Amino acid sequence: MAVSVREVAAAAGVSVGTVSNVLNRPEKVTASTVERVTAAIEELGFVRNDAARQLRVGHSRSVGMIVLDAGNPFFAAVARGAEARAGQERLSVLLGNSDEDASREDAHLELFREQRVRGVLITPVSGAPEKLKRLNDAGIPVVLVDDETADATLSSVSVDDVEGGWLAAEHLLSRGRRRLAFVGGPASIAQVANRLEGARRAVSEAPDAVLEVIEMPALTVLHGRAAGEAIVARDPRDRPDAIFAANDLLAVGLLQGLTIFGSVRVPEEIALIGYDDIDFASAAVVPLSSVRQPAELIGRTAVELLLKAIDDPDGDYERRVRFRPELVVRASTGG
Ligand code: RIB
Repeated sequence: MAVSVREVAAAAGVSVGTVSNVLNRPEKVTASTVERVTAAIEELGFVRNDAARQLRVGHSRSVGMIVLDAGNPFFAAVARGAEARAGQERLSVLLGNSDEDASREDAHLELFREQRVRGVLITPVSGAPEKLKRLNDAGIPVVLVDDETADATLSSVSVDDVEGGWLAAEHLLSRGRRRLAFVGGPASIAQVANRLEGARRAVSEAPDAVLEVIEMPALTVLHGRAAGEAIVARDPRDRPDAIFAANDLLAVGLLQGLTIFGSVRVPEEIALIGYDDIDFASAAVVPLSSVRQPAELIGRTAVELLLKAIDDPDGDYERRVRFRPELVVRASTGG
């Protein structure tokens, strides 16, 4: 039989209201009373029934978060930043992984509605469809993470990926490389399309440079390795002299495919740069140059925007935050 609040109150010699204050607004209670009630909770093994509180106030103490790929350390770092900021407000983060599948994304959104989450942070599978705007209008604030809407109808936190793609390609050109390849994923992923656009702009500024586009089914280490092996299988004269990978997971796989399976020397024969600057980038067998995204700051900022949308929906604050990417040069491009 679950222990009730009434039993905790009796054991601590306080009212039920005082127990509720200790649980929800400890700043309103003296330290000695908090200590007495906490001791009674631990002694009786009381666990609060949040469902009752949810029914009373109409929402939970959680925010929902949906990432594109939970296996990508970039999103893990974003989630870590979000959780750190949410925890300061005694909110928890319910994490869902869409794996770039719209039906899985819909299932997570439906679950979050049922759980009465305070708001939703999401990197949408493809753009910010009407469903997210409807959710936002239905009173569940939505903040786009690593994406944005053209008309700023939804709050968003992102990085200028066109600038990031330009930085990556321009860095390779500055190293004297001229036969560039962009190894990316489906163009339906906005981040990939924007990075490619930036690379195209940089290459267009270098008259004697060319840019080959190699599209892989997904942005994973395995697909990166397969791309590397395919490049190694070419006649050396047909290979690129530099590769810009749409993210670091592809870059790590390319490094495997080029060096372990193909004994190509990086950067001497082929320079390589990734994107995100995940921890594995600097730890790679040839430390990877990358375009850094402030992942944890993105997560923290997304929660900040969500808290403002909850507490001050009509407030005068910037709803679209866009960070600038940062070039990090390491051995894989001769740094
Ligand atoms: O999900 C694909 C990529 O987009 C990630 O690696 C990260 O760069 C995000 O911005």
